[in-house]
Amino acid sequence: MRSVSLDTITEVVTKTVEGAGDARLKEILSVLVRHLHQIVEEARLTHQEWEYAVNFLWRAGQISDDSRQEFILLSDVLGVSSTVDLVNSANNASESSVLGPFYVTDPPGLPVGGDMIQGQPGQPVLVEGVIRAPDGTPLPGAVLDIWQNADNGLYDVQEADRDGYNLRCRMITDDRGAYRFTTVRAKPYTVPDDGPVGDLLRATGRHPWRPAHIHFRISKDGYRELITELFDSEDRYVDEDAVFGVRESLVADYTLTNDADEAARHGLPTPYLKVVHDFMLAPKG
Ligand SMILES: [Fe+2]
Repeated sequence: MRSVSLDTITEVVTKTVEGAGDARLKEILSVLVRHLHQIVEEARLTHQEWEYAVNFLWRAGQISDDSRQEFILLSDVLGVSSTVDLVNSANNASESSVLGPFYVTDPPGLPVGGDMIQGQPGQPVLVEGVIRAPDGTPLPGAVLDIWQNADNGLYDVQEADRDGYNLRCRMITDDRGAYRFTTVRAKPYTVPDDGPVGDLLRATGRHPWRPAHIHFRISKDGYRELITELFDSEDRYVDEDAVFGVRESLVADYTLTNDADEAARHGLPTPYLKVVHDFMLAPKG
């Protein structure tokens, strides 16, 4: 310990985590120490730069509260959240994507075919699909939490003067494994850029926009939970999502549709937009 040098410090510090009772904790801390030291050495960090980094993290903590989580945002814009998704996604299931900060537990129930528009402004859309097992078998009784932003670009939880839920629901697939709802076309929106993460985006010439999307969190007994998003293929930011959440398989077309019977069944004007997308769940284990 007395002979700590640039050559030995990583090994010396790594040895201190070997006493961790939890093998996984030991593994993660060893990797963390090794890579942190490597960053400092490779970039030849100055004291001033290190202080800036520490102050950046301090500011991220200061601006965080119950409804603002700057560290998750930092993880998102550096692609860490998406890397966690990619590392953990099942091969035989639909691709996963970021949960985002606007999920609310226990949203209100909506029957299959239900209406989330409730008279609000926006382009009416019918969204439907089937939840399937990897062999294509439909899965009745799958639970979908669905949420998105409104025509003004805001999620309900962002609107200070709004009481109650908007454009979010929990739907249980019918006996054919289907989900179906009417909604308004989601809008692109910016991640919060008035904090240190916004400084980072500006310093690197990046914009804070996310392409329009609908969030899905899908679960079913015996299957791995799927957290994902469905993106609008016509959105101008679909190829430059600020948080790297887009996957080719999650980009859906909004097709102009003129089916008068279907429109009447759902109280939609004609023509209306329609999105059809199936999701696949991987069995557990
Ligand atoms: Fe979102």
